[in-house]
Amino acid sequence: MHRRNVLKLATGVLSAAAFGKILFHESLAHADASSNLTPISFDDFQVKLHELTNDFLIDVKNEESYLYAISSLLKRVSNIPELTFGNPFDLGGGAQFFKGKKQNHISINKLTLDPHSYLKAHDHRFYVGILVCLEGSGKCRNFNILDEDGSKILIQKTSEISLQKGDIALILQGKNNLHDLRTFGSEMKCYDIYTFIDEARAQSKFLDIDESSWNPASETFEAKWI
Ligand SMILES: [Fe+2]
Repeated sequence: MHRRNVLKLATGVLSAAAFGKILFHESLAHADASSNLTPISFDDFQVKLHELTNDFLIDVKNEESYLYAISSLLKRVSNIPELTFGNPFDLGGGAQFFKGKKQNHISINKLTLDPHSYLKAHDHRFYVGILVCLEGSGKCRNFNILDEDGSKILIQKTSEISLQKGDIALILQGKNNLHDLRTFGSEMKCYDIYTFIDEARAQSKFLDIDESSWNPASETFEAKWI
């Protein structure tokens, strides 16, 4: 039986500047309308974030709308303060995770990738979030699991986006849940804002993707849980 490494994720915090587009998939292509709305402070953002989250957790049905609302709010913050974190957790491949403080089911965490780094594909179980690029650039791929037979998994790439300063990617529990991150010539600093739907069961599982198995016609790859 294959072994699954489990990364227990937790709490956190955030920083940044002029926010550009919200990225993820087609239905969010119109998201930039929020950039024309009245600017708000980071403190206001956090108050509204908790209000939105309280409503969301009463009846968890539309994760996408909730994350879109958070992203739209964040885009109205023009001056996000630099937050302080403790020692990072090494995710391997040049990626470091800085856990932030958790408040009312929400945490804001920092994620950094060195140049030419790779954060292995992983899922988010019982928590959702937005990934906010604050500095540098990289690439985020999203996948769905098409088939799972023991240790053999067939995944399909559903999205591949460039992340630059101000870009926001959404991480849902369901579709497009699997994702990886890669940097090229520059480092990338991001904030992961998590909402815990079930804190006791929140976790991520990582996979190895066999890049050589790529089928360009179907955008599928073979993978296995680590
Ligand atoms: Fe993630």
